[in-house]
Amino acid sequence: MAVLEEHFERTIEKDRRVEPRDWMPEGYRATMVRQIAQHAHSEIIGMQPEGEWITRAPSLRRKAILLAKVQDEAGHGLYLYSAAETLGVDRAELTLKLIEGRQKYSSIFNYPTLSYADVGVIGWLVDGAAICNQVPLCRSSYGPYARAMIRICKEESFHQRQGYELLLTMMAGTEAQRSLVRDAVDRWWWPSLMMFGPPDDASPNTARSMAWKIKRHTNDELRQRFVDMTVPQAEALGVTLPDPCLRWNAERGHHDFGEIDWSELKRVISGDGPCNAQRVGVRRAAHEDGAWVREAAAAHAAKAAARATGSPDAAGRAATAGGSAAGAGDGAGAAARAGATA
Ligand SMILES: [Fe+2]
Ligand SMILES: [Fe+2]
Repeated sequence: MAVLEEHFERTIEKDRRVEPRDWMPEGYRATMVRQIAQHAHSEIIGMQPEGEWITRAPSLRRKAILLAKVQDEAGHGLYLYSAAETLGVDRAELTLKLIEGRQKYSSIFNYPTLSYADVGVIGWLVDGAAICNQVPLCRSSYGPYARAMIRICKEESFHQRQGYELLLTMMAGTEAQRSLVRDAVDRWWWPSLMMFGPPDDASPNTARSMAWKIKRHTNDELRQRFVDMTVPQAEALGVTLPDPCLRWNAERGHHDFGEIDWSELKRVISGDGPCNAQRVGVRRAAHEDGAWVREAAAAHAAKAAARATGSPDAAGRAATAGGSAAGAGDGAGAAARAGATA
């Protein structure tokens, strides 16, 4: 054991990646599972606030862009559930934990999207904050997570730019459009800052995650980086961020900003945000509606495996499974709904 532990310590120390077959401390494994699952859930739940606007996009171009973006988020969820599975957990079990409220997802997705400007502001601020959080995770010590993050970050940067481009267009439009943008920025600014988590002095897991090189920067460092990155973008856009304390501090070389309402973050994380019940409810319904699709896919895989091995026993089991899967479905409508909301 001592040899394995030493190997793990050396891997971390030399900035090499920990891989699925390597020995790792149980605490490291549990932390990785929790973090990756929470991240995967956030991608999947995060499809909902914007997904609601796909049918109401103002043009075919905007619809195509939004559809592609929401689809990307589904892909991010899939890579991440796969990364979690390399640690010995099962995706079905993680999904169950999500819909039973035993695992969390990002607090940001518990806020409503009230106008099409929200689509732009989510791309700009929420995907922008996600990039700040995730770029350092490309160097995270757990190999499958770090590699998944490389592709995810490339797609997040497209998301951020599409949001900003939408806002630039709206700001160059009518006064009514500009006021939608201002209203959306006012509503999303503070929740975006909360995406980085509690302040460092109230974040007990940070030190351990940094020592294991799961995390490379503290919550407050990343939050500061996000503020510094976003202020000039707001100026270019012509919007005022809703914080009277926001100003450049030449001495620190950073922007100062106002106090975050941590009680709001606590409330939203513990289930009492504006949309928590709705988000989890929609996810649960999609999971239940999609049961027949999963059964049919499993039956199909079993049949294909039976055909490949020529085993009559396996073929018989596959036929039974196929029969019950066909009977369990309620048609393509459920599949379409599952796809739209999952
Ligand atoms: Fe994403
Ligand atoms: Fe994104």
